[in-house]
Amino acid sequence: MEYERITLREVAYVLEVLRSEFRTSKGAHMVRRLEDAFARTFGVEYAISFVNGTATMHAALAAAGVGPGDEVIVPPLTMASTSFAVLHAGALPVFADIHPETWTIDPDSIREHITERTKAIIPVAIYGLSPDMDPIMDIAREHNLFVLEDDAQCFLGRYKGRLVGTLGHAASFSFQSSKHMTSGEGGMVITNDRDLADRIRRFNSLGYAAVGADQPKISKDEIQDPNYARHVSIGWNYRMSEVCAAVALGQLERLPFLVALRQKAAAYYAQAVEGCDWLTPQKVPEGYEHAYWTYVLRLDRDDITWHDFRRKYIEFGGEPFYGAWRLTYLEPAFRGKRFADYQWQTFEPGLCPVAEATQPRLIQLPTNYFSEAEMEKQAEALARTIDYFGR
Ligand SMILES: Cc1ncc(COP(=O)(O)O)c(C=O)c1O
Repeated sequence: MEYERITLREVAYVLEVLRSEFRTSKGAHMVRRLEDAFARTFGVEYAISFVNGTATMHAALAAAGVGPGDEVIVPPLTMASTSFAVLHAGALPVFADIHPETWTIDPDSIREHITERTKAIIPVAIYGLSPDMDPIMDIAREHNLFVLEDDAQCFLGRYKGRLVGTLGHAASFSFQSSKHMTSGEGGMVITNDRDLADRIRRFNSLGYAAVGADQPKISKDEIQDPNYARHVSIGWNYRMSEVCAAVALGQLERLPFLVALRQKAAAYYAQAVEGCDWLTPQKVPEGYEHAYWTYVLRLDRDDITWHDFRRKYIEFGGEPFYGAWRLTYLEPAFRGKRFADYQWQTFEPGLCPVAEATQPRLIQLPTNYFSEAEMEKQAEALARTIDYFGR
């Protein structure tokens, strides 16, 4: 079976926006429709759309009162945006280590990294797998911390039966082109906290007085009044465009299918890797549902390098795959740098031993295939590569 990533549904919504000539009066109101539908999908009160899934986190942190002098605990195995957002908010990222089997942030390590400056935690559902959120929320309650889920890579994943995105105080999603649902670029924050949602919206929309938790647009009557006080706070312009919202709405309506396809691709890989004791998949604990943004294996043999494995895999028809990002604190933008006079971590090797031992060995196999034949072909390449090196 062949499937399409973008269908006539998305095209029709985009046309609707264009036909409305971006006029509020003719109104396609795609941003509002997308936000309402997104909130409904997750069963939450508020969804606020953004230009991307980095601005989302900047806004959510700032709205939660995180700023200069504060520390935010983050994992090092993630895309650097998680930490960039902390810096954008004027705060300092503090890196806690990951769990050796799930590769998500380790609650015990979070506990060890709390100081009197800690204000927030950003657990990341890395590769589509939820972190262990119950102990993280316990820690947050004990220390009065704000928990922002970074779910850029996890749509419709579950943790002990609950939807990922509804576990912390707020959650951030990305619609960047590699994600489960996409509008090329884009993002969303969800929360049930009305005050927080109001502040997130104002931050996202230039501090306009008239926007709010469930009000993305300003009405004309108010804004035409010369005495109207427009801006009640400093804000960024992080608004999603109507065209992006149109694509995202079409994708959202197909989200269960889009996620199921990724999970299907993952199942093909899982079958291929069965019985191989030197490739270790990301552990999915009982009661979790993995959304499989990618299917990731750890190469546990020292006589084969990551590059050897990749070369053979490509030779056998596999699509070139990514390794994991460098750990954030070892990226040139971070390594050896000091971002605040109160920074106590040295951003050098040695900070997070589990993550440092894991990251160079990770093989991130793509799951965004829209044909089962392609999924089979990739799984076959994996099986042949394993056989080549000896199962
Ligand atoms: C874990 C994670 N967080 C944040 C982001 C940032 O999202 P965006 O590219 O939409 O800014 C991404 C991906 O791009 C990501 O994978």
